[in-house]
Amino acid sequence: MCGIVGYVGEKQARDVVIEGLRRLEYRGYDSAGIAVIDGGSIASDKKAGKLANLEKAIADDPLPPSTIGLGHTRWATHGAPNDVNAHPHLGQQRRVALVHNGIIENFAALRDELERNGHELLSETDTEIAAHLVEAELDRGGDLTSAMQVVCRRLEGAFTLVAIDAQDPSRVVAARRNSPLVVGIGEGENFLGSDVAAFIEYTREALELGQDQVVTITRDDVQVTDFDGKPAAGKRYHVDWDLSAAEKDGYDWFMRKEIFEQPRAVADALLGRHTEAGLLQLDEVRISDDELRDIDRVIIVACGTSNYAGMVAKYAIEHWTRIPCEVELSHEFRYRDPILTRNTLVVAISQSGETADTLMAIRHARGQKARVLAICNTNGSTIPRESDAVIYTHAGPEIGVASTKGFLTQMIACYLLGLYLAQVRGTKFGDEIASVVRELDKVPAHIQTMLDDSERVYDLAKTLRDAKSVLFLGRHAGFPVALEGALKLKELAYIHAEGFAAGELKHGPIALIEQDLPVFCVVPPRGRDQLHDKMISAIQEIRARGARTIVLAEDGDDTVTPYADVLIPLPQVPTLLQPLVAVIPLQLFACELATAMGHDVDQPRNLAKSVTVE
Ligand code: M6R
Repeated sequence: MCGIVGYVGEKQARDVVIEGLRRLEYRGYDSAGIAVIDGGSIASDKKAGKLANLEKAIADDPLPPSTIGLGHTRWATHGAPNDVNAHPHLGQQRRVALVHNGIIENFAALRDELERNGHELLSETDTEIAAHLVEAELDRGGDLTSAMQVVCRRLEGAFTLVAIDAQDPSRVVAARRNSPLVVGIGEGENFLGSDVAAFIEYTREALELGQDQVVTITRDDVQVTDFDGKPAAGKRYHVDWDLSAAEKDGYDWFMRKEIFEQPRAVADALLGRHTEAGLLQLDEVRISDDELRDIDRVIIVACGTSNYAGMVAKYAIEHWTRIPCEVELSHEFRYRDPILTRNTLVVAISQSGETADTLMAIRHARGQKARVLAICNTNGSTIPRESDAVIYTHAGPEIGVASTKGFLTQMIACYLLGLYLAQVRGTKFGDEIASVVRELDKVPAHIQTMLDDSERVYDLAKTLRDAKSVLFLGRHAGFPVALEGALKLKELAYIHAEGFAAGELKHGPIALIEQDLPVFCVVPPRGRDQLHDKMISAIQEIRARGARTIVLAEDGDDTVTPYADVLIPLPQVPTLLQPLVAVIPLQLFACELATAMGHDVDQPRNLAKSVTVE
């Protein structure tokens, strides 16, 4: 939530900052702002609404040339998304400009203190108090770095702060606690960003920062300390994707581009993870085989779409390993005081690696001595850094707020983990594991088949433009697919959508069925006779009550034809892997319907890509 950019170097800061904000806008788009240093004073502008509003304002009234600056794109927490609450915020004498991502929990007490000392605060935000505190600290002597250290020691909650001091045009200073921040290392210039997309155009060398650290960037140097001023070290890494991955590449939306990237993303997620003979090799799982053999329970924690990937994983992990596996929403987890031991494997699934709820869940788990394995797409992010082990999903940057390739590659990582546990614990024979691996290797081609058939789904979307409500039904591994189909529609088309386990219908939801209500039905492959037949019965029951059925079933499954108003054929895959193909038409459908309704698919209302506040 919120995108932050900082720059010092030789280029025009306003251009670098605005370009960085454009690439980070998916993190929050309620308002945007920029500040640069101009001859001993701060020049800044900020506007409610999307970045385009700010760009227009500075086109009409340009900011002065400067080679140092910062910017912010906001997802509002404290105060409405208006011009005044937009960042940057300035100190009392306009000496300091500061931007913030996160929530300062003790802001009310600090605000009272500032007001008692004569400070006039203009906004409703928690951020403005940090700007005033840093400036007050500078007035006591010292430089921006030490002022930031002092102030951070007083703040509670989650924050990334970036600040400039009008009287020191050589440095930008930032700090982080529980919120993301990376440094981009250039030649004669350095960058700060909420993620590497902010500066990928200029450098692919990055520095990952630890918890409770302050970083000072100048043109030629990067210095990291803790909040007490003691020198600390960041972890340097090379970003393995480039600018083209952060551009739309001819697509109307990042989301559509990311849907169509899925064959490649899934292939990359599988790459190097097994031998030709199908033996799993997950070198990044830094938990020893002996420790994995001692695991007696798996708990998956995740939110949103990642949680649905976890629900799919539960079916596979329990089936292949016979280890009990639970899936839990990260934000519910620690509050129920879960029973954890050193033999519990907690698997945290997060595309961004920054979701605050999931981060807090793994901290709780580690505090209780459980082992934590992260499944994550974002190198250098906090969740893998704070986990015992990580499986990276290698999907490449996901910029559309609605997760697509992130979801597919998370499921792949979960399957690999399940098979690896089965291999280590001997709960499946080698040839059984190899046979699943062969099926996984065919998935990129299957997804391509689904994508080549996208017109069928686009036509369907046109007919459902006026739908007020859409339901999704599935069973077994198809149930999380139904939930994911509904979530995609809610977040993109803003229409009522719900996913149900088909077996639950008669226990209540069937009352929702009325004439012409569209219901997507994910039918399990015929190999699982009972599941398949029971799903067909459910489809008959809703059709008898007037539902318009859109049936996703295995290609060649003639048994469903009489009950399908619309039939979407799926490639033949094992039941456990069916989510990988069944979700594709649901993604395409939501994207197309939202486009037809005139919505901003990449930046749906009220949402942000990474949820860095609890
Ligand atoms: O980055 P994470 O995977 O931790 O994010 C979790 C959810 O916020 C995310 O999946 C969200 O539900 C997406 N907008 C769904 O499309």
